[in-house]
Amino acid sequence: MTGLVIAVDGPAAAGKGTLARRLAAELGLPYLDTGLLYRATGRRVLDAGADPQDPEAATAAARALTPADLQRADLRGPEADRASSAVAAIPAVRAALLEWQREFGRRHGAVLDGRDIGTVVFPEAPVKLFVTASTAARAERRWRELLGRGVAAELPVVAAEMAARDAQDSARAVAPLRPAEDALVLDTTALDAEAAFAAALALVRRKLR
Ligand code: DC
Repeated sequence: MTGLVIAVDGPAAAGKGTLARRLAAELGLPYLDTGLLYRATGRRVLDAGADPQDPEAATAAARALTPADLQRADLRGPEADRASSAVAAIPAVRAALLEWQREFGRRHGAVLDGRDIGTVVFPEAPVKLFVTASTAARAERRWRELLGRGVAAELPVVAAEMAARDAQDSARAVAPLRPAEDALVLDTTALDAEAAFAAALALVRRKLR
């Protein structure tokens, strides 16, 4: 499968990360969670005491990213969510991260998950999945994930924050979240992780046949 690029896009907590990682393992491809690039950029801006909406600070942070930034332990949680979505709306930040993602995919092929992989980063990818689920299902999953990590959280607050982030990711002028025209849509509302993976693998195999 060397050289194959699979794009996995979708809103927050739709299950695309777990699914993309498993697809990569199954197909023997490298995996890149592109959300980490935006999360690490947001973290660097916060570390500098700057505002994630400030284009200059955010662009400088994106350009200064190192692989070690992606290993940080503080890339998840509400503060990192907000900062990542804010920096991701800045065109120069996206431009700074674009070539990095393309090089990663071109080297040996890859499964990449994000928001704009099928529309912008790899519009020519032969397989594109758009993984989605109802807002209620996604909010509950994120809430359970937070509780599992020992983070106290209220479901209505998690749901409201997720809706705000989806709105910002979908409404931004540059590379908004939307399915590519040739994406296969997978709705995981009624599927557990195992069933979602089986369905995704079946879609990928059919597409590659
Ligand atoms: O997938 P994630 O929740 O870790 O992504 C964090 C934020 O980064 C998300 O709110 C939008 C942004 N993002 C993006 O704009 N483009 C991508 N390819 C991946 C993430």
